[in-house]
Amino acid sequence: MELLLEADPSIGKILHYLAGAQCFVAQIDEAVVGVYVLKETVPAKYELMNISVAPSRQRRGIGKALLEHAIARVREGAGLRLEVGTASFGYYLTFYQRAGFRVSSVEKDFFLENYPEPLYEDGIRHTDMLRLTLDLSKGKIAT
Ligand SMILES: CC(C)(COP(=O)(O)OP(=O)(O)OC[C@H]1O[C@@H](n2cnc3c(N)ncnc32)[C@H](O)[C@@H]1OP(=O)(O)O)[C@@H](O)C(=O)NCCC(=O)NCCS
Repeated sequence: MELLLEADPSIGKILHYLAGAQCFVAQIDEAVVGVYVLKETVPAKYELMNISVAPSRQRRGIGKALLEHAIARVREGAGLRLEVGTASFGYYLTFYQRAGFRVSSVEKDFFLENYPEPLYEDGIRHTDMLRLTLDLSKGKIAT
């Protein structure tokens, strides 16, 4: 829960989306160093609800490995799309774009309306949330 709260300050929201979701952890020497939460929101459509790496373990490839694991899980479950909501600028955006995610929509004022404390990165306040989608349907035969 400590790690999940790094990515999402609302414990209420976390408990809500954990119900019916799959939660995976990365461990080093039995210590949990990373986590992600995956949920099938509608049939064949999944959402990455949370991904987080312990601050002292970041920038060592654990986040990338967790994201690749999540994508593989969705493929294994015959999922066609994986979505994630993230900030409209900054390294989180490139973190997902490198894995092939593309912008599918914008939720205006999301960070103003859903976060009690202002969130800043590079001196700029986060306001809008981008919804990113990884399309996994290519190469599959529609049924
Ligand atoms: C997003 C997060 C999970 C990435 O985990 P990580 O283990 O640090 O990620 P990786 O080491 O696999 O980094 C992959 C790439 O992302 C980028 N990146 C990661 N952290 C970065 C940072 N602090 N600043 C700039 N770029 C960063 C880099 O391009 C990095 O590759 P590089 O180290 O080869 O340059 C981690 O930063 C985190 O837990 N953040 C807090 C929780 C959070 O807000 N999660 C929700 C994100 S929407």
